[in-house]
Amino acid sequence: MSDHQEQSHPSLASVRKFWEENVCGEHYIGNEVPGTPQYFDRVTKERYRWHYHLPPFLDEVARHRGRVLEIGCGMGIDATELARRGVELTAIDLTEAGISLARKNFARLDLEADLLQGNAEELDFATSTFDAVYSFGVLHHTSSTEQAISEVHRVLKPGGTAYLMLYSKHSLNHWVHQALGKGYETSKDPEDDAPVSRCYSKRDLGRLLQSFSSVHLRKRYLFGAGYRPLAYLVPSQLNDLVGRVLGWHWLVVAVKSR
Ligand SMILES: C[S@@+](CC[C@H](N)C(=O)[O-])C[C@H]1O[C@@H](n2cnc3c(N)ncnc32)[C@H](O)[C@@H]1O
Repeated sequence: MSDHQEQSHPSLASVRKFWEENVCGEHYIGNEVPGTPQYFDRVTKERYRWHYHLPPFLDEVARHRGRVLEIGCGMGIDATELARRGVELTAIDLTEAGISLARKNFARLDLEADLLQGNAEELDFATSTFDAVYSFGVLHHTSSTEQAISEVHRVLKPGGTAYLMLYSKHSLNHWVHQALGKGYETSKDPEDDAPVSRCYSKRDLGRLLQSFSSVHLRKRYLFGAGYRPLAYLVPSQLNDLVGRVLGWHWLVVAVKSR
C-alpha cells in the first residue's frame, strides 16, 4: 500500500461495490455454492483454523453483559459465534451480499440477532446504546476511519468497550506486500484490490483512539492469508511468538470514559 492509498478517502460507493463483489471469507474455499450449509461450514472451519487468535477475542467480547453491536459482519461467521455464546447482538454490514448471507447462516443454525444493512460512518442508533462494539478487519477499509471511530465512541454507553481489529503497519505482512506490490484483499490484480486498506503504528492508533479513556493493544497473526503452505510449516508457538512483535492484526480494546 502506498502512502497515497493510506491517506486517500475513496467514496463509500466504491467501498461498497468492492465488498459486494468480494464477500469476505470466500477466498478460503473452492467451489462450494454460496449460502449452502457446506459453504458456511467450510468458511467457518478455515477461518478459525487460520485466525487462531480470534476465538479467545470473541470470548472476551462475549463476557460483556448487555447489548453488543458488530460493525462489518460480512457473511456473519463471527456474529454466529457471538450469538452462540449468548450475546444479545445487532450486526450491520455495508453490503446486501454480506447481510443476506449472514441471515441465511443464522437461519440454518437457528440463532438470533438483528442483522441490518448499515454504514459504520453514520450509525443508525442513538447515542449510548451499546455495552460493547465489535469490529474485525473493517474500519480500516471504510472511506473515513476517523468518522467511523467517532461513531463507535458515540453509540457506546459510558464505560462501554470497543473490540477492534485494525491492520498493523510494522508487520511482516505489510512489508512483504509493499515489497511485492501486491494487494491485501484479493489474489487478483492489485488494481482490483479494496479501495483502501489503512495500516497503523502504535502512535497512529493513539491518535485515532484519543477519545477513549483507555486503550489496550496487542499484535497477533504473523502471516496474512496468502502464506498458507508456508505458515502451516511454522510451529504454532513460534508463529504466535513472532506474531506478537510483527503480526498483521492489532487487537484493540478501547474503553469509553464513564
Ligand atoms: C474484510 S471484510 C471483514 C468482514 C468480517 N468482519 C470478517 O472478518 O470476515 C470487510 C467488511 O467491512 C464491510 N464494510 C466496509 N466499510 C463499511 C462501512 N462503512 N460500514 C459497514 N460495513 C463496512 C464490508 O462490507 C465487508 O463486509
